[in-house]
Amino acid sequence: MYRAPRGTTDILPEQQAYWRYVEQKAARICRLYGYERIDLPMFEDTGLFTRGVGEGTDIVEKEMYVFEDRGGNSLALRPEGTASVCRAYLEHGLHNRPQPVKLFYIGPAFRYERPQAGRYRQHNQFGCEAIGDADPALDAEVIDMAWQFFFSLGLGLFTVVINSIGCRKCRTEYLSALKEHYRPHIDDVCPDCQVRFRKNPLRLLDCKNPRCQPIADGAPKSADYLCLECTEHYAEMKRHLGILEIPFKEDRRLVRGFDYYTRTVFEVQPEAGGSQSSLGGGGRYDGLLEELGGKPTPGVGFATGIERMVLGLTRENIPVPPIPGPEVFIAHLGNEARDAAMKLAATLRRKGAAVLISTGGRSLKAQLRQANNLGIPRVAIIGEDEVRTGTVMLRDMTTSRQESVPVEKLVELVV
Ligand code: HAM
Repeated sequence: MYRAPRGTTDILPEQQAYWRYVEQKAARICRLYGYERIDLPMFEDTGLFTRGVGEGTDIVEKEMYVFEDRGGNSLALRPEGTASVCRAYLEHGLHNRPQPVKLFYIGPAFRYERPQAGRYRQHNQFGCEAIGDADPALDAEVIDMAWQFFFSLGLGLFTVVINSIGCRKCRTEYLSALKEHYRPHIDDVCPDCQVRFRKNPLRLLDCKNPRCQPIADGAPKSADYLCLECTEHYAEMKRHLGILEIPFKEDRRLVRGFDYYTRTVFEVQPEAGGSQSSLGGGGRYDGLLEELGGKPTPGVGFATGIERMVLGLTRENIPVPPIPGPEVFIAHLGNEARDAAMKLAATLRRKGAAVLISTGGRSLKAQLRQANNLGIPRVAIIGEDEVRTGTVMLRDMTTSRQESVPVEKLVELVV
């Protein structure tokens, strides 16, 4: 027996209502904030992510699904959406449109992670990117949007955690301070951190190995090394969060595991969880488009994992609107009745009613049981008499009451 690959899940029909609910809330919030949908390929040139997300990041080094296609090209299943949106922005000349260009996406992302509750190898992201504007008000708007999205889902308590990791300019000084801090401890940290120390020191702060925690805890904080512009940008962003009445906490250790971030980074964390279970995260990436070959263009965005929303909704017993099922079930007895039932089903469907028709030669009792198990509220029964008189016996499944109804009237009743 085959099973779904480790870290992947099937979304069965009974779970679909949660998914549609989250997607509808996402689409609604995007409309309110002026984001338009973009759909992107699920695989890209590997280089897009090694350059964009960054060579020394866990996502690129340990988690990316990389493969060679039959033409010898190195491709990667997308581990996230931001790099792809920026690639599309450059490829389609979106800088010619009014800036910022605001785009959202919903779709799968792939990371070879150790699967656990809320962490999968294929997960689905809802993400938003606003490209072409460096205004700190936009960072605050993105955070506000994320906050309103989680709020609109009805999820319980969550916290917005923010930090600024500065720009390329102020980062140079910060990275040397970070290296100075780690240098005396270099033999005590894990082998991964020894590589990070040489290749990508900012990533030292992503380490989850308990052995490295005390050293990471004592590390200098990026916020203490911000240049004047970055300090002002951060202060303005916080001022706007105040105007928008978004409560936030500052975490000077928050860096997030992508190389493209500059200045604002943020996460939305459930109050019961901790950073490992963050509902969503994002930040500003003012150097990414240039890194991908474009002109210097600022950007800011966030993404959230839909599985985590669905998990939260089911855990907290939040009711979601059900997906409407068939309005009427057609049961039939005898060959002639079966033909009439087929015709009736077709008529109703062409007029827009959702109809199920019994298949196979089941008894009337079995057909009624089937309709009942499927939760269909009404059954139209057709036997020899009904065929002759052009009627159906319409049964209300809740009250078990039945009445003879002309076919034309049934059409009026259920459409
Ligand atoms: P990220 O924090 O890596 O950011 O992922 C965004 C969200 O996707 C997480 O907060 C989490 O809800 C969900 N997520 C991530 N990995 C998994 C997983 N293995 N299983 C289930 N859910 C997961 C990004 O991907 C950035 N591109 C966000 C961004 C957009 N920054 C700027 N714009």
